[in-house]
Amino acid sequence: MKLKFNNGKFKILLFGDIHEHTDYKTNPRFRDMKKLMIAALDEYEPDLCVLLGDNCNTDCIADNPAQFEEMLRAVVSPITERNIPVAAILGNHEHDHGHEDEIVAIYEKIENCLTRNDAPAEITGNANFKELIYSSDGEKPVFCLWFIDSNNCHENREISHYDFVHEDQIKWFESECEKLKELNGGKPMPSFVFQHTPVPEEYNLLRKAKFWELPVAVRGYNTKKDTWYVGKDGVQDVVGEGPCSPDVNSGQFESWKKVGGILGAFFGHDHLNDFSGWTDGIFLAQHRTAGFRAYTDGCRSCVRLVTIDEKNPEKFTHELKRFKQFGLKCESLGPILRNFTDRQSLFMHIVGYAVGGIAGVTAIALLVKYLINNFGG
Ligand SMILES: [Fe+2]
Ligand SMILES: [Fe+2]
Repeated sequence: MKLKFNNGKFKILLFGDIHEHTDYKTNPRFRDMKKLMIAALDEYEPDLCVLLGDNCNTDCIADNPAQFEEMLRAVVSPITERNIPVAAILGNHEHDHGHEDEIVAIYEKIENCLTRNDAPAEITGNANFKELIYSSDGEKPVFCLWFIDSNNCHENREISHYDFVHEDQIKWFESECEKLKELNGGKPMPSFVFQHTPVPEEYNLLRKAKFWELPVAVRGYNTKKDTWYVGKDGVQDVVGEGPCSPDVNSGQFESWKKVGGILGAFFGHDHLNDFSGWTDGIFLAQHRTAGFRAYTDGCRSCVRLVTIDEKNPEKFTHELKRFKQFGLKCESLGPILRNFTDRQSLFMHIVGYAVGGIAGVTAIALLVKYLINNFGG
């Protein structure tokens, strides 16, 4: 399927970690996810949808691949029924059971699904591929979309909890970029990268929280767990947890800077983060879950629309829209989670710390009193 600009615009609709399960036929969480997907498709009429990994749980893949295929078809049916192409990347959970090639083969069977492996078999990962977007007149490719497999957890957790994009993948990417240059008059082709696990440079969008900001700060992940963070000025939307990037930096972001043309990168994996911002001239955007299956916080499940302007790709736009903002009613969550808002969540955070602090001080006072009464002179 050839992607091309439509009257000078190309719209990409992004869905983070849907994590669908095989009980989708009866579970209201599936219905809520589908409501969000349908509302977003109807409102935005995108040219491409991207599923950012951890799309469907793969527990059944070994014993019942047909069941997996049926579930996947149910998840993407609102997209495929509209004849919109969909690119689904692999998340760490697609790697969970060692059947990645079977999973990719099932994705390849879905109508209008672009998922495949373009890289040679010996290159790390099972679905590294790219798609070119052609000019509105269909004459020449003018933009590139990279879909990179960020692998699973690291085999040695003492090195890193999550694996990273490996050196051989980066070399393959760089050699392909060289070929793209030839198609683009010797200049780097403007491009986006989509992958599941964020690069460690996401932390460039955050700063260490000051003491009084701790109630609204997030704790860094794994090797960064001793530091609490808030978003830097200019960072948009919610920093809901410490980004779960690899603990080792494999140089992927530096490679993007070196080859040039990479305008932005879009990640899934962190179910509570949807912040975005710029670092070293590259836009990084995190996507929380668009579903209701994995850990999340209420009805903040959302989608992001990215619109590329053919004449001025550097000036792409993006917008985030949440479940409730579409005017949808949630049926799968209880009343407390269903009615959470960002402001209420912040308030409850502060109240939680206050109550915890008062309880701690009271407990210490009671302990001191007990010690004085029983052991004091
Ligand atoms: Fe996930
Ligand atoms: Fe993940």
